[in-house]
Amino acid sequence: MPDTLPALNPALAALLSRASVPARSLTDPGPDDAAIGLAVAAALRAPDHGGLRPWRFLVVRGAARAALGAVLAASLARRVPQTPPDRLALEQAKPLRAPVVIVAGAAVRADHPIPAWEQEASAAAGVMNLMNALDAQGHGAIWLSSPALRDDAVKRALGFASGDALLGWIYAGTPAAERPRPPRPAPDGFWREWRGAEDMA
Ligand SMILES: Cc1cc2nc3c(=O)[nH]c(=O)nc-3n(C[C@H](O)[C@H](O)[C@H](O)COP(=O)(O)O)c2cc1C
Repeated sequence: MPDTLPALNPALAALLSRASVPARSLTDPGPDDAAIGLAVAAALRAPDHGGLRPWRFLVVRGAARAALGAVLAASLARRVPQTPPDRLALEQAKPLRAPVVIVAGAAVRADHPIPAWEQEASAAAGVMNLMNALDAQGHGAIWLSSPALRDDAVKRALGFASGDALLGWIYAGTPAAERPRPPRPAPDGFWREWRGAEDMA
């Protein structure tokens, strides 16, 4: 794949080379408002059944990361009361690993004929566009998750409704070193053609 990349248009080359950067390898500077704005604009290009615009992004940076850490630690202590203090301290420090944490959410309309899974899928597609746009602008990012995403108290603290879905913590910053972009498997094993009757069991 790499030797064919120069012949591709830049957008496709960017898609074919995106790679995550571990949170601890994300350093200052984080993406600024302009870079974040472009990334969110890319997220808003995700397909959107019913025009529901489910994409919601919350940018946490600077001192607010410590406040987010406190919310995460309180969530863990509430959900798992026997958690030892050193594990709680680890949870609290998590958002400090990168200069910017983007909380990715979906505003889900439970009463709408478009099923909730489609609304979440649209929001998740937006997250992928956001990550590709960060990568294309030279920023590193990684999509992380944790049980706190499903904690109503966490949603409330971050200004989400309990019916909203939190899809992930997107850590972003400048890659500390030239990021590895490990090869992916060849696409051939992941698609096939179905020709109708002759391929039916
Ligand atoms: C919804 C979602 C949640 C994820 N949560 C975690 C996580 O909590 N911890 C983790 O190490 N990787 C998690 N990953 C995987 C990383 O984002 C990343 O894809 C992985 O490190 C492989 O890197 P790559 O994207 O360059 O292949 C998650 C991915 C997705 C799509």
